[in-house]
Amino acid sequence: MGEYLLQVQDLKTYFKVKAGRVRAVDGVSFAIKPGEKLGVVGESGCGKSVTALSIMRLLPQPPGEIAGGSVLFEDQDLLDLSEGEMRKIRGGKIGMIFQDPMTCLNPTMTVGKQIGEALRIHLKLSKDEAQKRAISLLEQVGIPAAAERINSYPHQFSGGMRQRVMIAIALACNPTLLIADEPTTALDVTVQAQILELINGVCTDFGTAVMLITHDLGVVAGMTDRVVVMYAGKVVEMASTDELYANPRHPYTLGLLGSVPRLDEERHSQLTTIEGAPPDLLQPPPGCPFMPRCAFARAICRTMPPLDPVAGDSAHLKACWVDVTDPAEQAYAERRRQARFERLLAATNSQSANGQSAGAVSASEEK
Ligand SMILES: Nc1ncnc2c1ncn2[C@@H]1O[C@H](COP(=O)(O)OP(=O)(O)OP(=O)(O)O)[C@@H](O)[C@H]1O
Ligand code: SF4
Ligand SMILES: [Mg+2]
Repeated sequence: MGEYLLQVQDLKTYFKVKAGRVRAVDGVSFAIKPGEKLGVVGESGCGKSVTALSIMRLLPQPPGEIAGGSVLFEDQDLLDLSEGEMRKIRGGKIGMIFQDPMTCLNPTMTVGKQIGEALRIHLKLSKDEAQKRAISLLEQVGIPAAAERINSYPHQFSGGMRQRVMIAIALACNPTLLIADEPTTALDVTVQAQILELINGVCTDFGTAVMLITHDLGVVAGMTDRVVVMYAGKVVEMASTDELYANPRHPYTLGLLGSVPRLDEERHSQLTTIEGAPPDLLQPPPGCPFMPRCAFARAICRTMPPLDPVAGDSAHLKACWVDVTDPAEQAYAERRRQARFERLLAATNSQSANGQSAGAVSASEEK
């Protein structure tokens, strides 16, 4: 195996709908090293789950189709495998945790049976061996009285405990990669922290690589080595987690970071929001998809920027024409933000409901 465990290259996943093609994932590339923890962040609808489902070959087909690219896992293109070969990989070498455990757990089977099934299929364990390992796994994920709870059904567990069971199933066969898609969104805050800590700890102990999908940059800060930022089906920035926080270079990432409550800031500091809405992926705008919402935008942004290294750092990539650290660009963006704010204020004051989006940046203001 090369340097990477997983290499996603130029992945394109579309959905055919009556009105045309939804470009849910549009040329996405990233890689994960063995044991590495990668965060994938972005707003709702930017293609995070569709990327994960494409890797796992779990897309609903139709309407979904993988229109291009490759998914190399241990140097083998998963997109070329038969369904039978793929079943061996799923739950074997790649484990997956979904947002809602109830959609994945079988309500009619005890959790012991569900964990045992994975162990018998993938590791060819006997019934007794599978039972022993299932108990030990439940203990590892913090289920009290595991030897008894193994005979319980999913509905007899709380939300947090069900998510622990999902983690036990996902890790049962010692996968080399765990894909966790918003694993804690459905849980309350204290349980969220416990579950993230659990995933982090268990994967560190087992040397399991993690692809952690979340819309919450605060979550990736604590537990990932690198971060991929997605917007409108594309990767717009990628860097080590420390570098991304210290030196964000894409206006969208700047916006996301502005939306994250920072512990090192004053208690009453105001959170910024990203004005406007993501583009319709049925008809994405030509050029940079962030342009309608971007205060830094200028005429060149009507051409799609390449995902290029930030000067002096080949591990930090951004898809943006502008240097957001340039004071002149910052002053220009500030003027445009101010103009947008004044338009919004004027629209509110006159209570004119003429349908114009006050959040969008007017093209006439571009340089
Ligand atoms: N079955 C489908 N048919 C048509 N479009 C779909 C289908 N599934 C997903 N999409 C579209 O694909 C795009 C990407 O969706 P995806 O679920 O990957 O977003 P996401 O980043 O995971 O968002 P969230 O944070 O809300 O989970 C969205 O625009 C969505 O509407
Ligand atoms: S390319 Fe232009 S529109 Fe896109 S993020 Fe950069 S400055 Fe904004
Ligand atoms: Mg999702």
